[in-house]
Amino acid sequence: MTQHIEAEQIESPVTEDLTVFDGIVDRAQAIVARYPQSRSALLPMLHLVQSVQGYVSQAGIMFCSRQLKLSAAEVSAVVTFYTMYKRKPCGEHLVSVCTNTLCAALGGDAIYKTLREHLSEDGKPLGHEETVGTPGEPGSITVEHAECLAACDLGPVLQVNYEFYDNQTPETAVELVDALRRGERPAPTRGAPLTDFKDVSLQLAGFFERPSDVDGPSAATETLRGAQLAQERGWTAPSMPAKVEFPELDKK
Ligand code: FES
Repeated sequence: MTQHIEAEQIESPVTEDLTVFDGIVDRAQAIVARYPQSRSALLPMLHLVQSVQGYVSQAGIMFCSRQLKLSAAEVSAVVTFYTMYKRKPCGEHLVSVCTNTLCAALGGDAIYKTLREHLSEDGKPLGHEETVGTPGEPGSITVEHAECLAACDLGPVLQVNYEFYDNQTPETAVELVDALRRGERPAPTRGAPLTDFKDVSLQLAGFFERPSDVDGPSAATETLRGAQLAQERGWTAPSMPAKVEFPELDKK
C-alpha cells in the first residue's frame, strides 16, 4: 500500500533568507487565487521568483514551498525539469539560439558557434547557459542553445528574453549581441518590445506593467502565406461530417 505523506511532514527546515521575496508576497498570493488548487500555481510562481533574482535559487524554492505548502523536493523536481527555470543567475538578457534540425541546417549551428566564440572573454567559447559579464548587470548576456522555437518557417531564429529575431545569420546575430552589450535594445522582428530577463519573467508570471508589454504584431508574412494563398484561390478544407463512426475496439 502506498503511504501518503503530507508535504508539511517532509518539508526541509528553512535555512535560507527569504526576505528578498518580501516584495512579491502579494503577487504570489494573487497567483494562488487564480487556481482552485494552490499547487497549480507553481509554474507562474517560479517565474515570479525568477523575476526577483534572475534565477530560481534555493531560497526561491523554499519561498514557493512555503507559499504552496509543497515540499522543497516537489518544487525542486519541477524547477529542474523545465529549461525555462534557471538554476544559476542569468544575464540581463538571455539569448536562445535554435539549434534544432531545420534551423541548424540553415545556419543555427554556425550562429551558436559564432556567438559562443564572439562573447568569450578568456578565449574559451561560452558554454550552454554561461554568461558574459556579471549576471544581472547591464550588458550581461547568458547564451543557450534551444530546441525548436516554433518558428521553423523563419529559420534560423534566435530569441532574446523569448522575443523573436527571425532569419538570422552569424553576422546579424553578432550585431545583435554587440548592441545588447552596449545597453541597446534592438526591436524584435515580431512581438512586444525587448525588455530584460527579469522583466519578462514577471510577464510570464502573468503581470504586465505597461501596455507595451503585449504590444506588437505576432504573425509573420511567411507564417500566413499558406492561409493567404488558400484564400486567394478559394481553397477550403473539406467540412467535418456531423457524425463520425469510430471503429469498435476490442474489449480489454
Ligand atoms: S527548428 Fe528552429 S524554430 Fe523550428
